[in-house]
Amino acid sequence: MPANQAPFPATRFRRNRASAPLRNLTRETELSVNDLIWPVFVRDGDGIEEPVSSMPGVVRRSVDKIMQAAVEAHALGIPAICLFPYTDGSLKTELCEEAWNPDNLTNRAIRAIKAAVPDLAVMTDIALDPYNANGHDGIVRDGVIVNDETVAALVKMALAQADAGADILGPSDMMDGRIGAIRSALEAHGHSGVTILSYAAKFASAFYGPFRDAVGASGALKGDKKTYQIDPANRREALRCVERDLSEGADMVMVKPGMPYLDLCREVKDRFGAPTYAYQVSGEYAMIQAAAANGWIDGDKVMLESLMCFRRAGCDGVLTYFAPRVARLLNR
Ligand code: PBG
Repeated sequence: MPANQAPFPATRFRRNRASAPLRNLTRETELSVNDLIWPVFVRDGDGIEEPVSSMPGVVRRSVDKIMQAAVEAHALGIPAICLFPYTDGSLKTELCEEAWNPDNLTNRAIRAIKAAVPDLAVMTDIALDPYNANGHDGIVRDGVIVNDETVAALVKMALAQADAGADILGPSDMMDGRIGAIRSALEAHGHSGVTILSYAAKFASAFYGPFRDAVGASGALKGDKKTYQIDPANRREALRCVERDLSEGADMVMVKPGMPYLDLCREVKDRFGAPTYAYQVSGEYAMIQAAAANGWIDGDKVMLESLMCFRRAGCDGVLTYFAPRVARLLNR
């Protein structure tokens, strides 16, 4: 008798789902603390932990508090922390000179963390927005974000961060040619061991709103970032950007935002095989936190499910503001 006419279901998928040990034996994907990069916001001052109103549970920390956070991250087994500076108006200029000041906030934080917790990897952001009077990631001339002049500035920024001891540089600016330019500058200046995690498939997304509040860029930003970030409608263009950045010397690539772009996570991993990260961005975090705060969803469960889904979609890891909370749950 053909199986499909048998008096019982030919395949009882429920057998492998029936108990926790069977589910554990047949689970295809694992989420571990090794998959986490924790983005944190640095501000000036001393002893400060200042809440970010659009990101409940997230604070801006002064450098001494960042060091405490780094110690905590390392103790939890999180492999890397990613620094984003909060800057107020006084440091923002048209040419963004503060971006490559060896003693700027980010570079001071890198040195402090590497001195205190050398085994924690420090990732940085390379883009001019925190230091730009226009709030843009690039230098603006006559209303246009100029590409090549911006790349020259980004190279200076990258070298200052590498000099300070950054392990992973994260160019998030979406200028053309920046990965190759940064890679050759690193080689020329004795930093051949520094990793580049390119924000390669970075879309012009409305999900970054809370982040721009957190770094103090919302007020400054004139217009939008559509002339350099990818149109959310474009899949093939995103794949070409990833291919280009890998060919220019990126060691790892990122898809950003995360949850609405899981199709690209899968495709990037399958096509290129390179270490692939997703950024679960501020708006994704804020949505989960807001629904959980209202009692509409179970925050812990949704958090863990969302992160597992990045892994299932092919990501090697995720940048997530939930990192310490996830780590605490996973370590239990
Ligand atoms: C800066 C940068 C942004 C994010 C990371 N780096 C904002 C932007 O491009 O406007 C967003 C991160 C988030 O929303 O969590 N270039």
